[in-house]
Amino acid sequence: MLSLLSFTALMAGIASAAPAAKREMSPDGVYFPLPNGFPNPSQDALLQIQLDADGTLPNGPPPPSLSPEGATNLKLIALNELFEVAFFNELVYNVTNKVHGYDLGYGHEYVMDALKAITAQEELHALNANGALKHFNQQPIEPCKYAFPVTDFQSAMALAATFTDVVLGTLQDVNEEFAKNGDFGLVRAVSSVIGNEGEQEGFFRLVQKKRPSAQPFLTTSVRDFAFTAIQSFVIPGSCPNINTIPLRTFKGLTLLSANIKPATQNLKFSFVQADSNTNDYSTLSLVYINQQNTPVVKALQNVVVENGNVVFEAAFPYDEFVMDGLTIAAVTKGAGPFASADEVAAATEFGPGLIEFD
Ligand SMILES: *[C@@H]1O[C@H](CO)[C@@H](O)[C@H](O)[C@H]1NC(C)=O
Repeated sequence: MLSLLSFTALMAGIASAAPAAKREMSPDGVYFPLPNGFPNPSQDALLQIQLDADGTLPNGPPPPSLSPEGATNLKLIALNELFEVAFFNELVYNVTNKVHGYDLGYGHEYVMDALKAITAQEELHALNANGALKHFNQQPIEPCKYAFPVTDFQSAMALAATFTDVVLGTLQDVNEEFAKNGDFGLVRAVSSVIGNEGEQEGFFRLVQKKRPSAQPFLTTSVRDFAFTAIQSFVIPGSCPNINTIPLRTFKGLTLLSANIKPATQNLKFSFVQADSNTNDYSTLSLVYINQQNTPVVKALQNVVVENGNVVFEAAFPYDEFVMDGLTIAAVTKGAGPFASADEVAAATEFGPGLIEFD
């Protein structure tokens, strides 16, 4: 069970307790350019990335045209893959150097081999998206500065599993947007990336001693939720051209419940009172997106305002819908009903809260 925002809060606490933990690979959150020149590798460096990735960039011609929504898809993919490249390069660095919390002992070689391939594969995903943007005369997305709220291997794997689940849901939305806008020539390549990310997810789950496959139909997401979630790893103001991505950034929703067991129960959330457009909290709802099911709408209960935060509970109907894997929570204006995750995003004020079970 984790939420990116509560991760950040947790690590803020740990950082103040142990201010000495200095990041070695990425002083001040600067990861790029990598030693291999990425995001602008030379031709030789690209050949090495392809060897490390066990495969090449697609070498066929791109489709003849790209819709505006299709361009937004590629920009979001590039933004996401750049942050993943930063994360996995640092993870490889930490495990290679047996940084405190990353000394694996048994299994070191297999994990290193897997992580190096994943890192190179993510580099190719980013280069492919930015390459397509350049081909269509769009600005490629530039990397930001990042800070990751993890200092040990198990938390790094839990975080990777969560953001990869968000990607696995969001690429469903990306493919639907491509299809709706006539960009069918990009659906096959993105679908091949969904499979790759799913294989990675199985590995992240395995090293956490979870079953490799989480759900029969993976939880869907919407581009705006991924766009917001990625920014929780970004040092604010450090993305040179994130403003060229026409997606929404939601205000934060914090999941206050901790160590949640997969069971029907009330969950506790909060948001910043000043971020709200209303004082009548009965006009808001808490909505859950899980699997390919119709979003579940619940009322805000026991609402109190504490130290500038609006704190509330909402029923979590685990048993009724068998809500394993990733659940995306959002506070919406109104109670729907919402026929789809898109309709939830269109009405969202606060989110996404990320809930993840075995
Ligand atoms: C690598 O280790 C440093 C030092 O503990 C930590 O700050 C950073 O978040 C770690 N990165 C990853 C991706 O695990």
